[in-house]
Amino acid sequence: MKATFTRPSRGSLNPGLFSSRRQDWETPLALFRTLDTEFGFELDVCATPDNAKCAAFFSPEIDGLRQQWRGVCWMNPPYGSAIGDWMAKAYRSSLEGATVVGLVPARTDTRWWHDFAMRGEIRFLQGRVSFGDGQNPAPFPSAVVIFRPKSYLSMALERPPRAKKQPFDSAGRKP
Ligand SMILES: C[S@@+](CC[C@H](N)C(=O)[O-])C[C@H]1O[C@@H](n2cnc3c(N)ncnc32)[C@H](O)[C@@H]1O
Repeated sequence: MKATFTRPSRGSLNPGLFSSRRQDWETPLALFRTLDTEFGFELDVCATPDNAKCAAFFSPEIDGLRQQWRGVCWMNPPYGSAIGDWMAKAYRSSLEGATVVGLVPARTDTRWWHDFAMRGEIRFLQGRVSFGDGQNPAPFPSAVVIFRPKSYLSMALERPPRAKKQPFDSAGRKP
């Protein structure tokens, strides 16, 4: 999958992205629109009024992690130490019927990646994302992780229950 990406080169990486202080890197509109065309997002689960990608969104004041996620959700979470909580919430929300599409750093060596990202559909992005007003590409690769509702998965994966053998019919005869 491609979007407005740039090939990383020495000296062109965005130094701010090495810092864990800023966590509000806005999704590039072109990338969001491509995914929105495919999924039709209804809720941005972590945003502010300035960077929300959907009319319905959860802000830090209401705390998206404490809300119920319903419908088709967009998630570009804060990339700090709480990212595992966001991925856990995304995965669990999909078990409750939500579709959650997340833009996350492809940190394949982390626990949250193995515990949660690998339970979703992963699309590794070619090149590097230039977040928001960042003039330079991020110093890390990114991936889009898709958690589809459990009902979708269970229909595909679960075998129908085996019919119970009835030893006798209602009149007590052997069938
Ligand atoms: C990486 S930015 C993404 C912004 C926007 N949703 C987008 O896709 O461009 C993460 C956003 O999450 C917000 N945020 C941080 N903690 C939050 C929380 N507990 N609940 C909701 N939003 C939160 C931050 O203020 C920030 O705007």
